Amino acid sequence: MTQPPTNDPDGRLFDDVYAQFRGKDPTRVPWANARPHPLFASWLYSETARDLNIGGQRALVIGSGLGDDANALAALGWEVTAFDYSPHAIEWARQRFPDARVDWQVADLFALPGSWRRAFDLVVEVHTIQALPVTRRQETIGAITDTVAVYGSLVVVAVTRDVRDPLRGRPWPLTTLEVTSIERHGVVETDRVIESPRGPGQPGRVRAVFHRNA
Ligand SMILES: C[S@@+](CC[C@H](N)C(=O)[O-])C[C@H]1O[C@@H](n2cnc3c(N)ncnc32)[C@H](O)[C@@H]1O
Repeated sequence: MTQPPTNDPDGRLFDDVYAQFRGKDPTRVPWANARPHPLFASWLYSETARDLNIGGQRALVIGSGLGDDANALAALGWEVTAFDYSPHAIEWARQRFPDARVDWQVADLFALPGSWRRAFDLVVEVHTIQALPVTRRQETIGAITDTVAVYGSLVVVAVTRDVRDPLRGRPWPLTTLEVTSIERHGVVETDRVIESPRGPGQPGRVRAVFHRNA
């Protein structure tokens, strides 16, 4: 088993959970869907996404977990790199999708290879910004946006919270303003879909798409 890439206690925490459930039903991992996230899938199979996929385009999946989003992209012909801090998650994703044309990598978002800087035509992150400490929010967003190529796109899927809601601990959902703050990192928002809570105590969600013009 590959070692975690750095000694980040937050990353290790996730690796421990994947290690605990490894070999069991993937949906037992508390955050895993065992299918592409529905808000990401509704974008991926849209005309907008089809128009971006013009052949040989490079996609990066951030905090790829058990690999469903990366596998869905690869099935559509994207040239996919998917990374996660957790070696157990990456091994498990490899096993779940042995035929997927995905370059699975163990890597730390805060210490990415220099060659990934502005290298990807499409960058996808699902529930990773909210999983990392709120105190590192802009650093997290900066590391993600830094991988988006000029003219590339970024898709973010996150749980939302009202700015008046108290923060209780991991995960730390995003406020509307925090989603907008992604634009501070050199990308422009082109689309936002808000999903209202389905019932009392249920979270709302957002899917936002950004574009780098320069
Ligand atoms: C809430 S999970 C979401 C996983 C996946 N995107 C999904 O939707 O199922 C957050 C993921 O971020 C990964 N992660 C945590 N810290 C990381 C870091 N510093 N670099 C890369 N991945 C990290 C975790 O291992 C975990 O797989």
